[in-house]
Amino acid sequence: MKQILNVKTNEKEYNIEISDNSFSKLNKEIDEATAGQKRLIVISKKVYDLYYNKFDFSEDELFILKDGEQEKNYKNYLKIIERAIELGLTRKDVMVAVGGGVVGDITGFAASTYMRGIDYIQVPTTLLSAVDSSVGGKNAIDLKNAKNIIGTFWQPKAVFININFLNTLDKRQFLSGLGEVLKYAFIEENCGYETALYLFEFLTLGCEKILQKEPITIIRMIEYCLNLKTAVVNQDEKEGGLRKVLNFGHTLAHALETITRYKKYTHGEAVVYGMFFIINWAYKQEYITYSYYRLSIELLEKYGFKPLNKEFPPEKLVEIMKKDKKASDGKITFIIPYAKKKVKEIKLTPEETVYMFEGVKKLTN
Ligand code: GLY
Repeated sequence: MKQILNVKTNEKEYNIEISDNSFSKLNKEIDEATAGQKRLIVISKKVYDLYYNKFDFSEDELFILKDGEQEKNYKNYLKIIERAIELGLTRKDVMVAVGGGVVGDITGFAASTYMRGIDYIQVPTTLLSAVDSSVGGKNAIDLKNAKNIIGTFWQPKAVFININFLNTLDKRQFLSGLGEVLKYAFIEENCGYETALYLFEFLTLGCEKILQKEPITIIRMIEYCLNLKTAVVNQDEKEGGLRKVLNFGHTLAHALETITRYKKYTHGEAVVYGMFFIINWAYKQEYITYSYYRLSIELLEKYGFKPLNKEFPPEKLVEIMKKDKKASDGKITFIIPYAKKKVKEIKLTPEETVYMFEGVKKLTN
């Protein structure tokens, strides 16, 4: 089974392929997409260990990147650039990212800055990178206390999503990807996609098949998420407005990741905590009805997620939120639900945000 989606921004048009093709077919497609180009393949260490014999890559064209958010740093970025110079890559050549979000982000950033920008191809191997970071052209590296603080918008030449990689993804990482998947259910009505996908209902009814990684359901699920994401990116590539809806759940998520130095929660887990938090708050503030609130919480709980206990002092989280690149004019930005499958942006002062934490209690009825 194979689905092709198209991204069309002002600067670039490219295809995303979602399939369960054999690895030999995937190799052929990567070869065709890079024909006539010298290439640097940045591959995650885990993926290299598990899959190297399935790829036709030569050792010479590889840069193996250790796994973990801490590897998305400027030292590795410079090493990738140095490797590109060693291999003699020119402006006509290409980088290929094979791995999760860390590999995709750092490779995209390296490709966007090497010789002022060369082609790159995304081959995401985790669910999280398939449904979010490999598509839409955002890339970045982190500094110690600031995630994704250095980066560009640079669209890939192609994205090949092959769901066979998900067979070896551990449960925690798979659930982490589902965190980003669930996000799309809450923002569907904002995205301006041409038809109603009923993703909220699809995820509610399809939970069992999804958790069993049933291939057709997984392909459909990724396709629905990317239908929504590409619709957003096609309208607002550089996050002037609409694209902000993709940050639903992310204000608290980034603060949780930062306060724990990216060690305690996966990105998807942090996003889920962020969604629980903001859904609870929106209900208490009467932005959403009780029935939508219940359906929303039940959807998250169906996948085994739970809200975060009050673990960190709100003042410390708010201090971090103030430094987030989405904060402006001293205010903190949240994307909140305000109607069924619809969200909007609000800006709160740091004091109001601290109060927001104090007002949130898990409802038991
Ligand atoms: N991950 C959010 C975005 O691509 O805009």
